[in-house]
Amino acid sequence: MARDPGRIGALKMAPSLLSADFGGLAEAVGEVAGVADWLHVDVMDGHFVPNLTIGPPVVESLRRHSGLYFDCHLMMTDPGRYLEAFRDAGADGCTVHVEIGGTAGLLGTCRALGMRAGLAANPDTPFEVIEPFLGDLDVVLCMTVFPGFGGQKFMAEVLPKIERVRRAIDEHRLGVDLEVDGGIDPETAPRAAAAGANVFVAGSAIFGAARPSEATEAIRASAASVESGLP
Ligand code: DX5
Ligand code: ZN
Repeated sequence: MARDPGRIGALKMAPSLLSADFGGLAEAVGEVAGVADWLHVDVMDGHFVPNLTIGPPVVESLRRHSGLYFDCHLMMTDPGRYLEAFRDAGADGCTVHVEIGGTAGLLGTCRALGMRAGLAANPDTPFEVIEPFLGDLDVVLCMTVFPGFGGQKFMAEVLPKIERVRRAIDEHRLGVDLEVDGGIDPETAPRAAAAGANVFVAGSAIFGAARPSEATEAIRASAASVESGLP
């Protein structure tokens, strides 16, 4: 059974392991254990994106070191082949990309396997492509960089799409978390929060920092300042 994702719509921090030392992933998880809401696990297949990262065996190993909610971002051309393996390895939610097609079936499989179902959209994928699936998913992930690598610059041109997703979620009272991923730091998180994002993925701004836990809290505070109506 999947772990508790926390209150839907609440501000959540999801450190991405992509910028951590892959030789010491358990330590990296330990560094953010007390401050993270979710652990964001970036899975890349060398096909949907040019980079290669980790698969179910690594998720299974991480599971032995952490009770955090595992938010697996599958940057893969054929994630359907691996959803069950990720579930068995300890994934709590899997997010697939809308650009690969077969979306309804993939979201349904995620849920049938007992995971939360997420749908990711690249920066240039319009709102209209995600819209038909909003009633059948748990997480919308708006990429604020083109996926594949950490440390890229936040793309502010995605903000209007985030606003539209938030409006649709609120209008239809959907139980959906709105996640942003790419270039998130204390300067960009408030902008994404103002547009309506509530889950903040950050890789380089957290694991590239001297103290990952403090960096996580700094991003959370910056996003929270917007939620509470401050600048
Ligand atoms: C990029 C990944 C991100 C990545 C973000 O393709 O999906 O999760 O780790 O890294 P930063 O926060 O450095 O942009
Ligand atoms: Zn990601």
